[in-house]
Amino acid sequence: MQGMGRWGDMDARSYFYLCTPEGRRPYFAYLARSIVSSDATTMDRPSTTPISNDPSFPRDAPVNEQLAFLLQYAVMAPSGHNTQPWQFSIRDDAIWLYADPALTLPALDPGGRERIMSCGAALFHLRIAMIHAGFDPLVELFPDGGAANAATDDASFASSGAGQKALARIRMGEHRQPSLLEERLFSAIHRRRTHREAFADANVADADIEALQEAAEQEGATLEIVTGADRRQRLLDLVIQGNEIMLADPDVRRELAEWTSRVSDKTGVVGKSRGWSRWQTATARWLHALPGGHPDPWRQETAMIRSAPVLGILATANDHVPDWLTGGQALDRVLLRATSFGLAASFLNQPVKVDRLRNQLHELLTHDGVPQIILRMGVVTTQEPRSGRQPVPVRSD
Ligand SMILES: Cc1cc2nc3c(=O)[nH]c(=O)nc-3n(C[C@H](O)[C@H](O)[C@H](O)COP(=O)(O)O)c2cc1C
Repeated sequence: MQGMGRWGDMDARSYFYLCTPEGRRPYFAYLARSIVSSDATTMDRPSTTPISNDPSFPRDAPVNEQLAFLLQYAVMAPSGHNTQPWQFSIRDDAIWLYADPALTLPALDPGGRERIMSCGAALFHLRIAMIHAGFDPLVELFPDGGAANAATDDASFASSGAGQKALARIRMGEHRQPSLLEERLFSAIHRRRTHREAFADANVADADIEALQEAAEQEGATLEIVTGADRRQRLLDLVIQGNEIMLADPDVRRELAEWTSRVSDKTGVVGKSRGWSRWQTATARWLHALPGGHPDPWRQETAMIRSAPVLGILATANDHVPDWLTGGQALDRVLLRATSFGLAASFLNQPVKVDRLRNQLHELLTHDGVPQIILRMGVVTTQEPRSGRQPVPVRSD
């Protein structure tokens, strides 16, 4: 069975499929998502729950403590290779967001693009958590100046020491009631995971895909869905080429070995997220170092791209720090919205990291834009274990 449409569209073969455990699970997920997405028109209405409905929010505490409380949600954001490359400072009744100058991936992310996108994702988590707590988030991007869309500015957000500029300053504004949609995004923070295994054999509803595209646009980015056998094959070819080019670089392989084969840790990607046993994870470190890289993740990924229900390219207007910060927030809104529909995503960014291929990737877009992230998305019926997080990194300045 390729996928499921509405109940009324079902033929006899599909009906019997639904009587099996494999069939029931995706269908129940589909039903759950239909219920969740059926009230799209009411989503902007205020929720009926009272303001500051999070019982654990320290309502009577000083502002700085309230802000510190909200940071626990910011750090649940996704980040490239789970590096968690963000830092926060709490002063002047505000949270200041910085990229951590120590958490770089010189081979995998030489320009720091994914690092800034990860900070953008943390910023979006923070915005949603603040709204959930009952406050309008007042966000000022680049409060220390800079980021005037010039490549020369990009480094000033990554340098260490006193010269480093903040990416954003976030303050709690007026009390306000979260909308239903915002509450759903907040509750998705706890359930969102990067899903590196196969998806359920179920179609993603067109309405859900449209909502994901709207989510990207709401944050100033776009999400192009790559459809048609030809375009999907071209994308797969680019991912394969990107992977080969990257894995030919021993520094890339070294960083992959260090960051993606952890047994269990507060940072990095654990082997379990690929379905690996402890033993497979332990040996993966060595296999990554082989010329050509570790064959398994790649074999798995190729098969899963072919069968992916949805392939999407997240793109931004330009390619500098402000675009990356926008892209990170858009990515996070898309991921949380997807989670609220019972969907999940994993990343296939290889062609974005190789300039020549990124240009070809651009040709797959039907509009102008710079590709930033490639996502494979689908229905999930199982919950991955939550990835590790380090304690909230708050600077002392
Ligand atoms: C900007 C960005 C780039 C990412 N690139 C990849 C990637 O290339 N491959 C991958 O498997 N995961 C990628 N991820 C997902 C992270 O590995 C994942 O967020 C991290 O391990 C934490 O796990 P979680 O998302 O389940 O919380 C990326 C995430 C972000 C925010």
